[in-house]
Amino acid sequence: MTISPERLVYLDNAATSWPKPPEVAAAMADFMERTGANPGRSGHRLSIESARIVFETRQLVAQFFNAPDPQRVVFGLNVTEALNLALHGLLRPGEHVITSGMEHNSMMRPLRLLEEQGVEVTVVHCSQQGCLDPGEVEAAIQANTVLLAINHASNVTGTILPVGEVGRIARAHNLLLLTDEAQTAGAYPVDMQADHIDLLAFTGHKSLYGPMGTGGLIIGERVDIQRMRPLKQGGTGSRSERETQPEFAPDRYESGTPNAVGLAGLAASIRWLQTRGIEQIRSHEVALCQHLLEGLSALPGVTVYGPLDAEYQTAIASFTINHMLPSEVGLRLDDEFGILCRVGLHCAPSAHRTLGTFPDGTLRFGLGAFNTHDDVDMALHAIRQLAGEKTA
Ligand SMILES: Cc1ncc(COP(=O)(O)O)c(C=O)c1O
Repeated sequence: MTISPERLVYLDNAATSWPKPPEVAAAMADFMERTGANPGRSGHRLSIESARIVFETRQLVAQFFNAPDPQRVVFGLNVTEALNLALHGLLRPGEHVITSGMEHNSMMRPLRLLEEQGVEVTVVHCSQQGCLDPGEVEAAIQANTVLLAINHASNVTGTILPVGEVGRIARAHNLLLLTDEAQTAGAYPVDMQADHIDLLAFTGHKSLYGPMGTGGLIIGERVDIQRMRPLKQGGTGSRSERETQPEFAPDRYESGTPNAVGLAGLAASIRWLQTRGIEQIRSHEVALCQHLLEGLSALPGVTVYGPLDAEYQTAIASFTINHMLPSEVGLRLDDEFGILCRVGLHCAPSAHRTLGTFPDGTLRFGLGAFNTHDDVDMALHAIRQLAGEKTA
């Protein structure tokens, strides 16, 4: 089947953004054609150029999130790998970690495995809109608590969690704060220092508009690198005379040849975001999202979940249609209207339990910088039509 992108309305930006700015593919093609070499391994000019591109991306990422030190930007495959690095690297049996009831399985699955290994896990429940009360986080702190670990925005409802306030609580109790920035990085201002974030996990392929296979963990200065174990060991191109892992970042955590072509693309996407302005993208998405939320909420038979105010969430609308399964609606949106979205549990069963939408889940429209008012109108038209159908 040949698909013409012109007739598609892509509303799955919360899963991955698409399209990407043309600069991203251009930078990747340029890397493949003109650089290509392994960064930090050999001493020749192409290897040096490749290492320069990787380092420049590190600097751009550090600057973008106001991180204190580019050398503590650790690149990896995605936010999942970054969360695993932070959680498995830091937590030891007998220690306690606090998380929220709106987390993705990229947070919950490593935590549940660590729980089996003797780590104590407290899940602070959120309201039905997905809101987290920082007072309840503070009340859950125990003598053995070492880490607060939450996402900055839910991938199910878009609800923005109070990261700055939780960060202040972490500081006051001498704890570390780990944030999952999968849904916020590039879509909402994230300031590692102002928000008191000690470990910031990000993915390149969503609102940073970079390629898949890029992401990482930014490690703040309060984190003891010697205490935080790497997930893997191997070649780093540094300290090659030794058979043990380097003790310094980023090498301690970056074994194996990196995704340099992906990082070239990520650098281009961050530059594009800086030029376009994250505030400008945010206000575009807030306007579209508000239109979408109001339009969906006005349709008989449609239930919309979350704060229902675009200012308090990322550009997501999660909803159900009374008499229809989300999976069935998703297929029909694709087949009959060319509208692409995500249905089901969105890898976040605990968030759906919080909303009361477990186990069928919801339909999720995820808007991005390239969506238009017309896209939203087409989506509203399709849902009006489907929700208006009579049940048999
Ligand atoms: C909140 C949240 N955390 C983690 C992830 C996992 O992202 P990735 O697949 O890029 O690791 C996602 C992606 O859907 C997400 O939305």
